[in-house]
Amino acid sequence: MKIIHSVNQMQRFSNEQKKKGKSIGFVPTMGYLHDGHLSLVRKCRKENDVCVLSVFVNPTQFGPNEDFQKYPRDKKHDEVFAKREKIDIIFYPTEKEMYPSGYLTCVTIGPIANLLCGKSRPEHFQGVATIVAKLINCVSPKVMYLGQKDAQQALIIKQMVRDLKYSTRIKTLPIIREKDGLALSSRNKYLKADERMQATCLYRSLKEARNLIRAGERGPSKIAKAMQKIILSNPSAKIDYIECVNANNLVPLKRLQGNILIVLAVFVGKTRLIDNITVNV
Ligand code: PAF
Repeated sequence: MKIIHSVNQMQRFSNEQKKKGKSIGFVPTMGYLHDGHLSLVRKCRKENDVCVLSVFVNPTQFGPNEDFQKYPRDKKHDEVFAKREKIDIIFYPTEKEMYPSGYLTCVTIGPIANLLCGKSRPEHFQGVATIVAKLINCVSPKVMYLGQKDAQQALIIKQMVRDLKYSTRIKTLPIIREKDGLALSSRNKYLKADERMQATCLYRSLKEARNLIRAGERGPSKIAKAMQKIILSNPSAKIDYIECVNANNLVPLKRLQGNILIVLAVFVGKTRLIDNITVNV
């Protein structure tokens, strides 16, 4: 496994691989790797000649009062993980190179970035799109792997890749859950023991929504109410949003039909968690 810090070295490596006819698969992360990343890395490994993983806690996707400073970082753990999974390259770009003083250019995405998480995190998706554009330009992957837990992020990145004519293909892989249903996330580390127990309410509420839809319910507000009831029976839980949207464009649905994404963000204590499921009717 090789560790690369500089953009120049990363680009040179990718060019050499391409000249040799090798396909590059890429998993962008903010580190603190867990089994959710594992599924991305294994798929990447399986489908490509060369597997690149980036670790960069991207400051521009955090709001001023968010957890950029305390976001969990553990290089040793990440490197053990990457070696075990036979990753070829860990790319650790530096903040200085990614955002040199005087940088001006950002990638903004249209209205899709202002819905759902974009409402409570106004600059978030601009930060995500900007760093992912830069990372693609460094790694030049044939395929990039993302997790469905960040469903809005995955749609936004797909939109950007389409609009900016990148040749990279995006693959979104299913959410990985703990045994009790909690979606894996680096932020789960913030949860205190009692909060960790309460945090299962996100998935429980999503399952209830799915059951109601399967039983014939088609009204989004009825679904949201049933979900609210489950979530708010936990003293540490506060709802940021619950929405039933079109899974292809995130537009809120008046009546449930087609490919539906049920999506939510909930604070458990101070930790903001997101989760979602898709249902087809
Ligand atoms: O999902 C993440 O870990 C990040 O948002 C990403 C895509 C690596 C961009 O910083």
